[in-house]
Amino acid sequence: MSSTPYLIHFNSIGKSDIGYISIAEKETLPFVPQRIYWTYYTPEDVKRGFHSHYNLEQILVAVAGKIIVTTEMKNGNKQEFILDTPKTGLYVPKMCWRIMQYSHNAVQMCIASDTYTETDYIRDYNEFLK
Ligand code: TYD
Repeated sequence: MSSTPYLIHFNSIGKSDIGYISIAEKETLPFVPQRIYWTYYTPEDVKRGFHSHYNLEQILVAVAGKIIVTTEMKNGNKQEFILDTPKTGLYVPKMCWRIMQYSHNAVQMCIASDTYTETDYIRDYNEFLK
């Protein structure tokens, strides 16, 4: 567990003439995954996210396309991450406000530390800052 976002570099096995495979072994992740979901076909002019979680931790991977992720911690620490390779994930800790923007072909895989609970969301920015 960590309190700041950081990039995770997954191994990539293969070569250009046969293609590649990347693997996320649970031992190499900052939490044991409980749920995986993916988002896609997000229009380029749409920004998503605009929330934080009380307890959920996540790893975002652009398995295709490009995702620009802006993160903000309660202490005001703001960062921008460009996810444009399936070899890299972004660890998003709990209590982290995030905004994502996607290229037209982006497919975002999210590896999550827990099951879905709407009550774990903070969707009000002022509530997040409190
Ligand atoms: P949300 O997490 O707000 O997506 P984003 O941050 O990408 O905009 O989820 C979008 C909608 O999908 C919201 O109405 C809740 C619903 N949802 C589920 O029902 N189950 C899930 O596991 C997830 C992640 C979302």
